[in-house]
Amino acid sequence: MSTASPTPQSVGNLKVLVVGGGGREHALAWKLRQSPSVAQVWVAPGNGGTERDAQLTNLPITDVVALREWAQAHAVDLTVVGPEAPLAAGLVDEFRAHGLAVFGPTQAAAQLESSKAFSKAFMQRHGIPTAAYDTFTDAALAHAYIDRMGAPIVVKADGLAAGKGVVVAMTLAEAHEAVDFMLPTEAAGNKFGVQHNAGGARVVIEEFLQGEEASFIVVCDGHTVLPLATSQDHKRLLDADQGPNTGGMGAYSPAPVVTPAVHDKAMREVILPTIAGMAADGIPYTGFLYAGLMVTPAGDIKTLEFNCRMGDPETQPILMRLQSDLAAVLLAAARQQLAGTELQWDSRCALGVVLAAHGYPLSPRKGDAITALPTDSAEAVVFHAGTQVVNGQLQTSGGRVLCATALGADVRQAQANAYALVAGVNFAGMQFRKDIGYLALDR
Ligand code: AMP
Ligand code: GLY
Repeated sequence: MSTASPTPQSVGNLKVLVVGGGGREHALAWKLRQSPSVAQVWVAPGNGGTERDAQLTNLPITDVVALREWAQAHAVDLTVVGPEAPLAAGLVDEFRAHGLAVFGPTQAAAQLESSKAFSKAFMQRHGIPTAAYDTFTDAALAHAYIDRMGAPIVVKADGLAAGKGVVVAMTLAEAHEAVDFMLPTEAAGNKFGVQHNAGGARVVIEEFLQGEEASFIVVCDGHTVLPLATSQDHKRLLDADQGPNTGGMGAYSPAPVVTPAVHDKAMREVILPTIAGMAADGIPYTGFLYAGLMVTPAGDIKTLEFNCRMGDPETQPILMRLQSDLAAVLLAAARQQLAGTELQWDSRCALGVVLAAHGYPLSPRKGDAITALPTDSAEAVVFHAGTQVVNGQLQTSGGRVLCATALGADVRQAQANAYALVAGVNFAGMQFRKDIGYLALDR
């Protein structure tokens, strides 16, 4: 393994706090706990899986100031933030102001995800390839723009919407309806539940892009960038990419669409100018940076979105392939000492299948008993997301419940191994896609 070496006095006794409670955080905590430098990992608030894991400890705190006070009182050496909400709420700023080592972007830097209007203007200003767009607060102007541009066209709410604020409208009617939802008039009300940014409701309307999507995630300490293994997510609910958009129904790593040439282009045209642009704008970027890329058949790329965190479920297969000491890498990044660090990857493929609750994504049912769960191994793990333990019984407690993740010699074998895990899981109303990884099978 070739990673940054932790300071000698901290070998074997690092205390790590993971913030969040989804599948991504279960995978982060699972991987961090394997680091030889780590003695203890807390997950706040965690889920049923992190509660049942004897190696991890749940911490029922979500308030940013209360978490900081707890981290100080318990001399936490490193805090790693999983989801966007605590980042957008300024958790990193709060921890840093009190001298705590924390890995993630500041509130200002997290605007790359929390505001579509901010990220689109940023990309335009720094020449980063993205779809042509315009921003609207006035519904009448938005409707007129849609009529002028025609369909297909994409309507995005400006603000965090847990993956539900984007409508890829194939018809004009769908696009107009999306504007009515996202720029609600008083009569209509806010049906999407989108958290609008300060200044009120705003939408971004952009050009429809065609191609294959890939998730390109890097670790950054403000200047040095370390790409993680590539991955691809499946955002639609149903097989063959049909049905509504979700937070992600499955993922695998590596993504063959990211050829070495596409990888070079993504670093040169998207990642490096973004890190340099944020530094030039006085908002140095630290943390995971996730660029959602659209790769055209000609191998050109455009940036669909930035996320200021790792992907969920991309994290689960990516971390299953990571052989390096994750705690050492993230501690080096939190200390702005990432230069010289390298990451080692298992050359095999990893693939994760999300098992979602009845009614996901619109109205997931909670409280179904999880009646069967296979035993994990080093090569096959069922990561938990929406689960909780009630009176000793494991139950569903959210939309995406579990992610069955397995390694295999190639995509086909990883897929077979992951679906073998799925076969051992049972809860009422379980839904999952049967075709995770299909785009990589025919290459
Ligand atoms: P976003 O949250 O911006 O990544 O959008 C969610 C999903 O909507 C993306 O993963 C794409 O599948 C789709 N999408 C977003 N923007 C576009 C676009 N301009 N053209 C085509 N599909 C898009
Ligand atoms: N899986 C997509 C995301 O995490 O945004």
